[in-house]
Amino acid sequence: MNQLKGLPEDETAEEILTKYIKAGKVASMVRSEAVKKVRIGASLLEVATFVEQRIVEEGCKPAFPVNISLNSDAAHATPKKDDTSVFGEDVVKIDIGTHFDGYIGDTAVTVDLAGKDDLVKSSKDALESAIKILHAGINTKEIGELIEEIILSYGYKPVSNLTGHGLMQYFAHTPPSIPNVKVEHGVVLEEGDIIAIEPFASDGAGKVTDGHLKEIYHLVGEKPIRHPVVRKVFSQIAEYKTLPFAKRWLTGTRIDFALLQLEKAGIVSGYPVLRDVDGGLVSQAEHTVIITENGCEVLTK
Ligand code: CO
Repeated sequence: MNQLKGLPEDETAEEILTKYIKAGKVASMVRSEAVKKVRIGASLLEVATFVEQRIVEEGCKPAFPVNISLNSDAAHATPKKDDTSVFGEDVVKIDIGTHFDGYIGDTAVTVDLAGKDDLVKSSKDALESAIKILHAGINTKEIGELIEEIILSYGYKPVSNLTGHGLMQYFAHTPPSIPNVKVEHGVVLEEGDIIAIEPFASDGAGKVTDGHLKEIYHLVGEKPIRHPVVRKVFSQIAEYKTLPFAKRWLTGTRIDFALLQLEKAGIVSGYPVLRDVDGGLVSQAEHTVIITENGCEVLTK
């Protein structure tokens, strides 16, 4: 279960599960609190700071910077350090990750400030329906097929190139991918698998592409760094291990320069904001679950 060197190898399955349960509970609690803060005129940076502080207050750490993605931005947006933007009549996706000793809870909700009830309902319904059919032995292609069917029934398109995923210690995205559309081949889920299901619905293309903004990065390799400014920024990244971090979490000077150098050297990689290709509005809903013999347990309920 441990993929990282230097971590204790003596955890029992039960101890690991307890940590997943803790991470899931905190993610769920903070998600509910965050929803109440998302109002027209409220500051995005204040909501982001609130979410990440509450995670720490509850004894976990952020597994990734809170994603606050508006309208046709589907994912990977998070406020800049000096962000002054406020919510308007937006479709707001809040995607929260918590971890306890690297064991992750991943959950997302859409707050509708734009009067797009049906769009928001479609991804929520798809998630809830998918959860109902989960059990050990299910093929992930059945999940994708159901999610697609439900979102289409509302007159929207599931985002085909965003998927749910597995979770492992200190890795927020691992196989298997959980499709949001019908696929040729899936994989069979087993009892004890921990996965995140996250349907996205769009009133545009139903396909996302990389935007130009990058505020979230993660470590991808280690190489010697000579430049003192770059080394100083790099020294702050170590504590996040393989988990994503926000540019706004880093302190000091010439952070943009340092991240650019680190990215060029193949030490870190940025996550561009993902946008609907046709500029359609996108909604999202997500839970982390553990597969059981006859069903599943939602860890971020
Ligand atoms: Co996720």
